[in-house]
Amino acid sequence: MRTAYEENRRYFRRAYETGCHGWESSEPSPYVARNLTIVASSIAGRRLLDLGCGEGRHCLLAARIGFLPTGVDYEPRALVRAQASAHQAGLGGRVRWVAADVFALPLAPGSFDVVVDYSAFHSPRPAPRTIRRHEMRPRTPATAGRLFHSPPAASL
Ligand SMILES: C[S@@+](CC[C@H](N)C(=O)[O-])C[C@H]1O[C@@H](n2cnc3c(N)ncnc32)[C@H](O)[C@@H]1O
Repeated sequence: MRTAYEENRRYFRRAYETGCHGWESSEPSPYVARNLTIVASSIAGRRLLDLGCGEGRHCLLAARIGFLPTGVDYEPRALVRAQASAHQAGLGGRVRWVAADVFALPLAPGSFDVVVDYSAFHSPRPAPRTIRRHEMRPRTPATAGRLFHSPPAASL
């Protein structure tokens, strides 16, 4: 029997292989836009980590409003699209893309001021039943920064 982690992995690989994933990939979520704008005006730090960044829409938004984003995703196809969008938007040099599993981040602790998770840790469809809470809680390298997750009923 596959673990919840393996199910997720298969789900996302297939989503990017087929290109039919069903979530928004270019416009940032209003929830993230609103929160990032608030955070930008309330903290000095600008280093932002986007966990499961997908095709990079929130990293691009973050770069536009002055953050120094790093997007991490374990799906190389997503990152190729993210890079292309960044390049097209003239933000190619402003975002760092890291192909990695967020449960084994190759990033030093304390490297970020803000960490975003937008629907990377949502249950994928079909929702796996066996996800344990600790499996879903990555050890982020943020220290005294801000971490915000998707709201429970996020509109993707
Ligand atoms: C629903 S998509 C959302 C993408 C992006 N956050 C957005 O809002 O557009 C979830 C993303 O999380 C990535 N992901 C899920 N689990 C991951 C893990 N353990 N390590 C790295 N990436 C992961 C998937 O590959 C996928 O790109």
